[in-house]
Amino acid sequence: MPALTVLPKVAAMSATSVTVSSYPPLNVQVHTPRLSLLGATDDLLERLVPVVRRGVATTEPWPFDDPMSLYKDSPEREWAWLRAVWAGRGRVGDSFWRLYFVVVVDGEPVGMQDLIGADFSTFGMVTTFSWLGPDARGRGLGREMRQAALHLAFEGFGARQATSDAFTDNHASNHVSRALGYQPNGSDWATRRGEAAELNRWRLTREEWSAGRRDDIELGGVAECLPVLGIRDPGGH
Ligand SMILES: CC(C)(COP(=O)(O)OP(=O)(O)OC[C@H]1O[C@@H](n2cnc3c(N)ncnc32)[C@H](O)[C@@H]1OP(=O)(O)O)[C@@H](O)C(=O)NCCC(=O)NCCS
Repeated sequence: MPALTVLPKVAAMSATSVTVSSYPPLNVQVHTPRLSLLGATDDLLERLVPVVRRGVATTEPWPFDDPMSLYKDSPEREWAWLRAVWAGRGRVGDSFWRLYFVVVVDGEPVGMQDLIGADFSTFGMVTTFSWLGPDARGRGLGREMRQAALHLAFEGFGARQATSDAFTDNHASNHVSRALGYQPNGSDWATRRGEAAELNRWRLTREEWSAGRRDDIELGGVAECLPVLGIRDPGGH
């Protein structure tokens, strides 16, 4: 097995709070000047539990439909959320994978950013899902963590396009997509807490991402993760 690529910044964090796992997806890291996405190990999930316990989806309009049960009352909320992440982490194949990242700002976990591949080996397509604790919103972190996930997808994994969906009244999520150059890609319907609600669909091609790509985002642990996800030629797109 090749040696793990460890960035200096990652090595410094490893000494204090991040355990290097024998499972490569948990070692993937993305660093921007403002935040880090760290593979969601059980230690990091535990550190994020207080944010989930305080509440993630607390006011209408409800931000997402919720297979992760973030609308439940505590402590069922934390239990169901942990089970959903554990189950999602364990489902990895050519047709589907989902990488869960804890968003860390100034050493504190503040939310999650997921990167999901669907038939990635055939289409090079990813989608994203994210949330921040209410206290962390409205400071540009949502935009920054989406950029971090896109950098991993396009630069690290060789993605061809990224998609995003958000309910039409989820202004923050729709605004992040628009601001990062995604183009409208139609609409759809989904259930939201049992009610029908309309979604905006967004799509960002590799060319559109390249036009606004950043040069201050660092990736770590990517090469070791590629075989786990069945990605053979990330430069081939
Ligand atoms: C979606 C979410 C991750 C965005 O993160 P955020 O840190 O709040 O967003 P940012 O501060 O980066 O804002 C991004 C842009 O949206 C705008 N924005 C943020 N909240 C807004 C709101 N309620 N109404 C209108 N615009 C808003 C900001 O002005 C900013 O615009 P700019 O880039 O032109 O300055 C966060 O709001 C959140 O966790 N929401 C609840 C969960 C959720 O909706 N997840 C997504 C499911 S699809």
